[in-house]
Amino acid sequence: PFEAKVDSILSLMTVEEKLGQLNLPSSGDITTGSSSSSNVAKKIEEGKVGGLFNIKTVGKIKDVQKIAVEKSRLGIPLIFGMDVIHGYETTFPIPLGLSASWDMEMIEKTAQMAAQEATADGINWTFSPMVDISRDPRWGRISEGSGEDTYLGSKIAEAMVKGYQQDDLAKNNTVLACVKHFALYGAPEAGRDYNTVDMSRIRMYNEYLPPYKAAIDAGVGTVMVSFNEIDGVPATGNKWLLTDLLREDWGFNGFVVTDYTGIEEMMYHGIGNMQQVSAQALKAGSDMDMVSEGFLNTLKKSLDDGLVSMDDIDKAVKRILTAKYQLGLFDDPYKYCDLERPKAEVFTDENRAFARKVGAESMVLLKNDNILPLKKSGTIALVGPLANTAVNMAGTWSVATKQEKSNPLLEGLKTVAGDDVNILYAKGSNVDYDLEFEKRITMFGKTIPRDNRTDKQLLDEALAIARKSDVIVAAIGEPAELSGESSSVTKLQIPQAQKDLLNALLKTGKPVVLVLFTGRPLAIVEENENVPAILNVWFPGSEAGLAISDVLFGDVNPSGKLTATFPMNVGQVPIFYNHKNTGRPLGNSEGKFEKFKSNYLDVRNEPLYPFGYGLSYTTFDYSNLNLDKTTINMDDELTVSVDVTNSGDYDGKEVVQLYLRDVVGSVTRPVKELKGFQKVEIKKGETKTVTFKLTVEDLKFYNSNLDFVAEPGTFRVFVGTNSDTKMMTEFELTN
Ligand code: IFM
Repeated sequence: PFEAKVDSILSLMTVEEKLGQLNLPSSGDITTGSSSSSNVAKKIEEGKVGGLFNIKTVGKIKDVQKIAVEKSRLGIPLIFGMDVIHGYETTFPIPLGLSASWDMEMIEKTAQMAAQEATADGINWTFSPMVDISRDPRWGRISEGSGEDTYLGSKIAEAMVKGYQQDDLAKNNTVLACVKHFALYGAPEAGRDYNTVDMSRIRMYNEYLPPYKAAIDAGVGTVMVSFNEIDGVPATGNKWLLTDLLREDWGFNGFVVTDYTGIEEMMYHGIGNMQQVSAQALKAGSDMDMVSEGFLNTLKKSLDDGLVSMDDIDKAVKRILTAKYQLGLFDDPYKYCDLERPKAEVFTDENRAFARKVGAESMVLLKNDNILPLKKSGTIALVGPLANTAVNMAGTWSVATKQEKSNPLLEGLKTVAGDDVNILYAKGSNVDYDLEFEKRITMFGKTIPRDNRTDKQLLDEALAIARKSDVIVAAIGEPAELSGESSSVTKLQIPQAQKDLLNALLKTGKPVVLVLFTGRPLAIVEENENVPAILNVWFPGSEAGLAISDVLFGDVNPSGKLTATFPMNVGQVPIFYNHKNTGRPLGNSEGKFEKFKSNYLDVRNEPLYPFGYGLSYTTFDYSNLNLDKTTINMDDELTVSVDVTNSGDYDGKEVVQLYLRDVVGSVTRPVKELKGFQKVEIKKGETKTVTFKLTVEDLKFYNSNLDFVAEPGTFRVFVGTNSDTKMMTEFELTN
């Protein structure tokens, strides 16, 4: 609908102004964004900037927009982007935690609320959702995605895009979403961030690409390119990826933005000089250049040299102008700059109450030997470097969070416990022994400050209160800086200083609840053996303390389920439930080594906790797995039903999971694949029949010709409480 308008502006533009629209500089300081201290303002005036990112607050954004609208020759408004990843000032759990809720409606609402707050504060473009599938917890950015599963990841991608854009970008409370990082960014070799990715097409199509496609199908307005190479060509300059697949096969018609310095980095990949890589990126399908200024500084020369055509440039400019029209910026460049909105809409009590609920819904109970929920009486010793800190609660990539207002666990416990509980607190240890290590991991200035008391002083204080208590709550784990961008690790464990603290607490003989903070799956084998209760809380967001306390005291019954497998040790990585069978699968070895079979000498194949795993304070029994037919043809629908009984003492929610196995295929098929799930609330003593509908679409996969097909034959249906379920039945697909 905006074509004629876009064309008419385009006809007025000089080449330099066109290249300006393709330019996305950073606003400067990542949290505050300060336009006046940089030369960005001058560039905006000269028409050399298309948008800015990570500038915060309506006042500042309005000032900058004024320069574009009133001082640049054509007055084209800027778009303002930000990494609004898991909430804005009201911050929700890190995305890996959010995905553990398996609650699509709730996830959509988090995105909607983030859009409401961000737009109230002047932002109209978010660099989210991040939908990179990852099976490698060494990779720090596993915390920013939805885990290892293609099906679940696709559903979440769709929910997030809907939440942000609400099918109407013209509203002033919706943001342009950006699916990232296209593509395969979650599969770097050795789990090291920014490392090479090398993957077969069949794996890409079946396992890694669907979540990006789901976001495109949901109407996402923009795509961010990944840093990695694909088939030996950096994604930023990969024509197959950005044009053949994304635009021609998938029909994407929004604009593509590079990641930060993605164009410049093509030089270090070894692809050419700045002029060559910039020309290649444009021709491949990158439209907007984040930070490199390769487009701005070299494309005019490339035009003269015949490396790019005016048509190549125009296509990119048109896509960006179209997005600005869709947002309504040409009608009112200040539509997101209402100075009254932030007060009324950002970090409100209502939003914070929702964040508290979401935080609790995302937590995963990993173990519970009848300790949880805690009683609201007696004495609790709360110990650990993560027990009384607002810093860290929001986790990674929370640019806009009100860190100082995050709710520490100690405060939350006191509020939720009521007057009959005596709560004692001690820090117990620093995050880690090694100060240099702490310095190295600082990002966004959010490191928990080091306590200058000696390790012994800290421990003695903790043991003293532990001895006086009825139960110890140990709030420990990875500090937030250990996950997220550029935070890959080779050890998947709680930092040693905190492990030592935990062991000392266990030796007191008092019952210990481990409240585990983490941004990735950890190999907590020892903890699983020795600690009677483990609640994985991820980084729960603004209302962390209250949300954790709601679960500890049983006001909320935990219902989160893991979306990434927890390994036994780092050597098992990459580990994921939907692996292939191989030609030498194990028999019924019960964890024992079998010679000449696909297994390890020193560790079993099974993980510590499988995908989909998570306990509740109640118990759920599954029975009566039933299919309405045992043979279907290509047009049929199959109904699967199962009875789920809440057989314990608490009302609760259960994520009922359905997996399929295509027993024989023209190419090898995974041993199990998630194809359905439902989160159901079941009262104690109640039985609910849960039904799933399957169609031939659920049976399809990409074959060796990359055709999406369903092949006749036997399919196994597994239903249960996690991916390790053995409850199974079969049906036949006929032609
Ligand atoms: O959106 C991010 C991306 O995920 C990593 N590099 C920087 C971008 C913009 O801040």
